[in-house]
Amino acid sequence: MKKILLVFGTRPEAIKMAPVVKELRNHPDEFDTRVCVTGQHREMLDQMLDVFDIQPDYDLNIMQPGQDLYDVSSRILLGMRDVLAQERPDLVLVHGDTSTSTFAALASFYQHIPVGHVEAGLRTGNIYSPWPEEMNRQLNGRLCTWHFAPTETARQNLLREHVDERHIVVTGNTVIDALHWVVASGKAVAPQFGRDERRRMVLITGHRRENFGDGMRNICQAINTLAGQFEDVDFVYPIHLNPNIRRPVQEIIDGSRKNVYLLEPLSYLEFVAMMQQSTLILTDSGGIQEEAPAFGKPVLVMRDTTERPEAIESGTAHLVGTDRSTIVDAVTDLLTNEESYHTMSHAANPFGDGHAAQRIADLIATHE
Ligand code: UD1
Ligand code: UDP
Repeated sequence: MKKILLVFGTRPEAIKMAPVVKELRNHPDEFDTRVCVTGQHREMLDQMLDVFDIQPDYDLNIMQPGQDLYDVSSRILLGMRDVLAQERPDLVLVHGDTSTSTFAALASFYQHIPVGHVEAGLRTGNIYSPWPEEMNRQLNGRLCTWHFAPTETARQNLLREHVDERHIVVTGNTVIDALHWVVASGKAVAPQFGRDERRRMVLITGHRRENFGDGMRNICQAINTLAGQFEDVDFVYPIHLNPNIRRPVQEIIDGSRKNVYLLEPLSYLEFVAMMQQSTLILTDSGGIQEEAPAFGKPVLVMRDTTERPEAIESGTAHLVGTDRSTIVDAVTDLLTNEESYHTMSHAANPFGDGHAAQRIADLIATHE
């Protein structure tokens, strides 16, 4: 019996680790599965634990309003020291690029406990974009023993950094497992907030640190311009709880317009339904670049780089940066040019087949 400790703490990690928790728990004869949440996000994490019905065994509860990277990193490292000493798992699993993932991996390394990295090998090559996530990913590439790469491109990135090829498995992205689960459950229901669902809709999210300040201001101004230009289209923005995001969004975006809806973060079940209803998605999110193509929704990525080049190559996503007029032009093109829209909404999803968690469990079961 192998004892596996999964560690996560933010909204996207919970969504993408939930399928792995479920898969391991489906094999209680093989795995003793424990979950530790850092609570790096509080409300947004709890929303997702509810959706996936996960009760953590440990909760470090580290979140502080307006926390900086030092706060998060040091609190995770100290909290994990005690959990790891008490549990002594055979393997720790972390996910992606957050502070939770890298500092939980480092804490495990300090106790000689091997770590498996889910969603390994994504790279932009620019350590300041996304910041600090690109560095977190590179550090995880060194700290972890097992690398669950979602795509062949990610595997190649790891090989270029001399990761042992026997320790890399291409699994697909677990976000597709999560999406399949939500869609099959029939529980994806759009929230009611007075919108006429027959109208076209642009779904918006944004939260990246490198966009704080000018980037966010430009994004908000672009949304005002677009909402004025397209009165027959709704602009729906569930706002991340980070105060650095909420402040500009609430100050700059004109929420009094009839076609603008500023909402609280949605549960995953609601957000999936909103993606299905949307015409296109305007975002700086990582996970949404992977999900939107599953519904044939074009994604305009408000960043200068992406660690998901597969989405760009397959034609489902375009990088538009944070320049106001570039964003306005790109959305205008998709809303007015049928050919542009058709091309982006008919590309294939390159991110997986919904069986990533199973491949991860198989590898863990068969290796020391
Ligand atoms: C983190 C991750 C980022 C991921 C993002 C997903 C790092 C370095 N960054 O960034 O990779 O894309 O999560 O959303 O780990 N807050 C709340 N309640 C919540 C969540 C956040 O109030 O449920 C507020 C708090 O004031 C908190 C702030 O948001 O201090 C920032 O949260 P933090 O996790 O530090 O950064 P994110 O920008 O969310
Ligand atoms: N999401 C959600 N509710 C929202 C906005 C996003 O459930 O109001 C989901 C979305 O479907 C995706 C994940 O949250 O799976 C993305 O999280 P985020 O953009 O915060 O982080 P990133 O993916 O950029 O790390």
